[in-house]
Amino acid sequence: MFFQSLLSLALVPTLIHATTVTFPPTVGLGTSDVQYISSSSTFDSLKISNVNSTTYEWYYFDAISDDGSYSVVATFFVAPNTAFPFTGSPTMTLEVLLSIQTPDSDVFYLNGVFATSAQVSTDGDGASGVWEGTGLSFNGSSDMSSYQVVIDSAASMGVTGTISMQSIAPAHYPCSANEAGATMQLMPNVGWANAIPDSQATVQLEINGQNISFTGSGYHDMNWGDIPFENAVSTWHWGHGRLGPYSLVWFDGTSQDGTPYTSGYVSMNGAIVDTQCSGVNVTATSSGFDIEIDLADESVFQAQFSTDHTLLSFDGVYFRWSGGLVGGISGGEQYTGSAMFDEFDFTSS
Ligand SMILES: *[C@@H]1O[C@H](CO)[C@@H](O)[C@H](O)[C@H]1NC(C)=O
Ligand SMILES: *[C@@H]1O[C@H](CO)[C@@H](O)[C@H](O)[C@H]1NC(C)=O
Ligand SMILES: *[C@@H]1O[C@H](CO)[C@@H](O)[C@H](O)[C@H]1NC(C)=O
Ligand SMILES: *[C@@H]1O[C@H](CO)[C@@H](O)[C@H](O)[C@H]1NC(C)=O
Repeated sequence: MFFQSLLSLALVPTLIHATTVTFPPTVGLGTSDVQYISSSSTFDSLKISNVNSTTYEWYYFDAISDDGSYSVVATFFVAPNTAFPFTGSPTMTLEVLLSIQTPDSDVFYLNGVFATSAQVSTDGDGASGVWEGTGLSFNGSSDMSSYQVVIDSAASMGVTGTISMQSIAPAHYPCSANEAGATMQLMPNVGWANAIPDSQATVQLEINGQNISFTGSGYHDMNWGDIPFENAVSTWHWGHGRLGPYSLVWFDGTSQDGTPYTSGYVSMNGAIVDTQCSGVNVTATSSGFDIEIDLADESVFQAQFSTDHTLLSFDGVYFRWSGGLVGGISGGEQYTGSAMFDEFDFTSS
């Protein structure tokens, strides 16, 4: 009895409050257990604890200044390029990709390095991760109200500093708010959990002796999948931005068989106005993209994104842009802001 109660005292808090998964630097063997239905907590936990050659997951963080002239993106992968074609190796999975845009240059800094191992732990809904040997890590509070990316990589990347986020927009899944039993599938075989749709971000970096600091909008999500990305996805238009009191996240894509899937999220002053997986229309224009999100009260949020800065591009199949965003609820006040936008188009390859 004594031992049993001691054991439960010692084990239960550990299991509930913090679990740590360690990844080796190379692809796992065997099958991956992949999660697509949400739990009542552990929002930002790992969704695959054994990544093999056909599965992948990543933690993504970005921040963009209000005028769109600065941005930073840090992505922590557990993904061989046999599962996600834009990472650097078929055998090494633990790449960290860091890119920085400044007013001087759209691609002021771009570098990918591989970790020797990675640990991810979950505390409540938040997660923390260390990609050993890269100097990059992230830590989130248990309620996801704040996240910080710490870059201590003078040796391997020539960069030190932090990206700090104070959330201003509640977390959501593709079709719902943060709740148990919700689908986490953006489309078949692709998972998505958006811990921080928008935040007040403070970025302070030193790169090879030069200081870069800005404030703006910060964002964090994770994606994962149980088959190679390009076998699941045909097209993908995703982005997020802020307009006055509104925080927006949109997705409009097609699966391999051409079926459309969408997701739209609008919050205002820290409360969700709408989160659903229909009624989103992202269309290309001569200067960027038009984004339409149908809201539950039958109004429409309309925004125009300008592809002002090309931050990444691969083979005409993948682009990442930052740029200006203009819009508001149709017929209502119009605002200006900035946004990040990713396009995958495997039909053009
Ligand atoms: C990887 O895991 C997935 C999901 O369990 C499974 O379908 C697939 O066959 C596995 N791939 C390999 C190469 O073992
Ligand atoms: C992350 O860790 C740093 C350094 O220990 C700490 O200052 C910061 O408050 C932590 N942030 C969160 C969101 O837990
Ligand atoms: C960058 O900022 C840090 C902290 O404010 C300061 O200690 C350092 O001297 C600055 N470096 C340069 C090159 O200005
Ligand atoms: C999306 O917008 C385009 C261009 O305005 C329009 O032709 C199309 O019908 C719209 N689709 C939906 C589903 O609203």
